[in-house]
Amino acid sequence: MPAISRRLFLGSSAAATGAAVASGVPLAAVASAGAAKAPAYGPAAGVAKLNANENPYGPSPGAIKEALEATKLGAYYVGASVPMLKSMIAERHGVTPEHIALSSGSSGVLTYIATAAGETGNILGPDLFWDTTARMGTRHGGEVVRLPKDDGLEIDLDAMFEAITDDVSLVQITNPNNPTGLSLDGEALRAFCKKASRKVTVLVDEAYNELTEDPEYTSMVDLVREGYDVIVARTFSKIYGMAGMRVGYAIASPATTESMILSHGLGDYAMNQAGVAAAVASYNDLGFLEMSKARIMEARDMVMKGLDGVGLSALPSSTNFMFVNLGDLDAEVFRQKMADRNVLIRGIYRDYTHWSRVSMGRLEHVQMYVDALAPVLEEMSA
Ligand SMILES: Cc1ncc(COP(=O)(O)O)c(C=O)c1O
Repeated sequence: MPAISRRLFLGSSAAATGAAVASGVPLAAVASAGAAKAPAYGPAAGVAKLNANENPYGPSPGAIKEALEATKLGAYYVGASVPMLKSMIAERHGVTPEHIALSSGSSGVLTYIATAAGETGNILGPDLFWDTTARMGTRHGGEVVRLPKDDGLEIDLDAMFEAITDDVSLVQITNPNNPTGLSLDGEALRAFCKKASRKVTVLVDEAYNELTEDPEYTSMVDLVREGYDVIVARTFSKIYGMAGMRVGYAIASPATTESMILSHGLGDYAMNQAGVAAAVASYNDLGFLEMSKARIMEARDMVMKGLDGVGLSALPSSTNFMFVNLGDLDAEVFRQKMADRNVLIRGIYRDYTHWSRVSMGRLEHVQMYVDALAPVLEEMSA
């Protein structure tokens, strides 16, 4: 190809990157040379990335090994690993592989479900929940309807039930919730789901389920097994530490899986071979999962103590992040001042201007957050 058309074909920055990679310079180095704080993969050295609820202890060593093997055969579309992963998930939960739909992160299935729900009505959720996929799914129909804001940050299940009107096609609950980190009691949620699912499909996003005190009690998978109109979404992005590998799934009746998920997405064809290989390798790796959970709990303790030391507090978390009450301080200013110290956290959610979310990263990064608390607060009160 002549140089000029080759450049048009690649685009100038892609051409530069392509040339660098061809000459043996790793992509990560190319990107970080251009933008010190934005390497191609993961955070730059010295940056505490605590803003996206990633779990830096993953992927597990077994997952990395299998993903590398799968990458060597990346010329081929996914094969037997997909039914294998579905069977493993189905076996754990006492359902059939037809109850399982995989997607690129749980964002895939969550978006498909929201799209399907939007075709026939609105999605009802609490005032504050992980609403990205619901909002995205309703772009072509329906809307996200929220419970009115009240004084508490707990989800009011009675109010939620009362709010199920005829134009609601889906109720969405995130449990534990993001960004609050709060977990609903398993029995209370179970009673709600049984009652509500007689009126409308209930979606329970359980992205952080494995981090709760009693994951089985907290999960609503048993209701899917018993035939209630309930969908459970799960992900390999959190406890498994595979956010960048993009594997998630839904558990629902085969009929719902077909009508709300498979008919609205690409199904298995969308899956990434390396991600699926990593998921298969780590799904039952109890040693890795326990290690991950223990580190996250250690980090939560560090943050709680650090906050206490400066007179702040956080909600009790059942996740790998904490929702910090900043009193009368502005969460966006707090975020900016933390970023100035290479500590990346989330800013304001909706109109919760005095609440700030921080993820449990590596302990040394969590320590950077704790160390920055006092000077940042001092600056903000100056
Ligand atoms: C509650 C919840 N659900 C789903 C997701 C989406 O994650 P993924 O698409 O990586 O599975 C997130 C991401 O932070 C989340 O917090």
